[in-house]
Amino acid sequence: KTTAFSGAAIGKGNYRHFMEKELHEHPAVIGDTLRQYVDPATRAVARPALPFDPATLPRLWLSGCGSAFIVCQTARYWFENIARLPCDADVASELRYRDPPLTKGGAAMFVSQSGETADNLAAMKLLRTGGQALVSVVNVPESTMSRESDATLMTVAGPEISVASTKAFTAQLSVMACLALNFARARGAIDAAEEARLTTALLEVPEHAAKMLDASAEIEALAEDIKGARDVLYLGRGSMFPIALEGALKLKELSYIHAEGYAAGEMKHGPIALIDEKVPVISLCPSGPLFEKTASNLQEAAARGGRIIAFTDEDGAPALRRFASRVVVLPKVDPFVAPILHAIPVQMLAYHVAVLKGTDVDQPRNLAKAVTVE
Ligand code: AGP
Repeated sequence: KTTAFSGAAIGKGNYRHFMEKELHEHPAVIGDTLRQYVDPATRAVARPALPFDPATLPRLWLSGCGSAFIVCQTARYWFENIARLPCDADVASELRYRDPPLTKGGAAMFVSQSGETADNLAAMKLLRTGGQALVSVVNVPESTMSRESDATLMTVAGPEISVASTKAFTAQLSVMACLALNFARARGAIDAAEEARLTTALLEVPEHAAKMLDASAEIEALAEDIKGARDVLYLGRGSMFPIALEGALKLKELSYIHAEGYAAGEMKHGPIALIDEKVPVISLCPSGPLFEKTASNLQEAAARGGRIIAFTDEDGAPALRRFASRVVVLPKVDPFVAPILHAIPVQMLAYHVAVLKGTDVDQPRNLAKAVTVE
């Protein structure tokens, strides 16, 4: 089973790989997706057509696989923190074993690039039986998931050919960030000034995404350092924790290097035993309310001989330079949108490591673009 798009019909242009081309499409795709959800007249997120009322929704279930599950995990922070909406994020293949008690009036959202992922379709069936309203967030309008749901929210990422998801991931995050703002207003969880501030931050994401791509040469140099590693740890706190998972997933998938993503505060509960000078510790540490605590977790790792590589911004850099072996200074962005933007450098790093290792970047071994078996 294939997706609706065929790689043969779409060229790589001047890029070496589809993945490289698709990484460069982040700014345009995020912009196109935001334009779909933001009213140009009011510059506020318009209410999308949904089969439930976000104002009274008791609980929202989020389900996805791989990178799409990571989007669900990130969105959970937004829905809970900003919209005060109780929310669960599950790996689609596990939802049925959890078999959660469901009450009528609830809703579920299924995130998928292809819209054909069997595990997500099985999870949909379970939640449908439990009387939940179903919404799919997909990149292929005529996909099975879109047909099986009560409403479809589109990502406007265009065809994604590389097996590793890049631009579809940031487009999915953009849709979820829009929903979080809209639900926050519907639920009376946000005042007008804060909503305007966060919406402005969101609308600036395409411009900042373009600046993130400017770090490509520096990240390529960093890839030289990483390519010989056997294991790599990625750390993040709060909504940056899922992006640590995304960094680790992309590195495993593309370069076959063993990598794990951890919540930075979890490291001292076990993974710290792995730390030595051979294990790079890549941290997602932009300035913001969680900076101090994340930096102190990294310092603990550095004190045990860990090789710390920090992705941060100009405000975070001075403190991290005291103990990190490498500090990548990225544009300073609002913490709300930092997960969308910091996904770009971690995806770029996995890309460059894979190129240096000579793996099959667009078609990594054992993987398929759409996984249609459970
Ligand atoms: C991401 O880089 C992976 N190739 C994979 O985890 C993917 O996100 C997952 O299989 C889900 O696919 P979907 O979005 O088409 O449902």
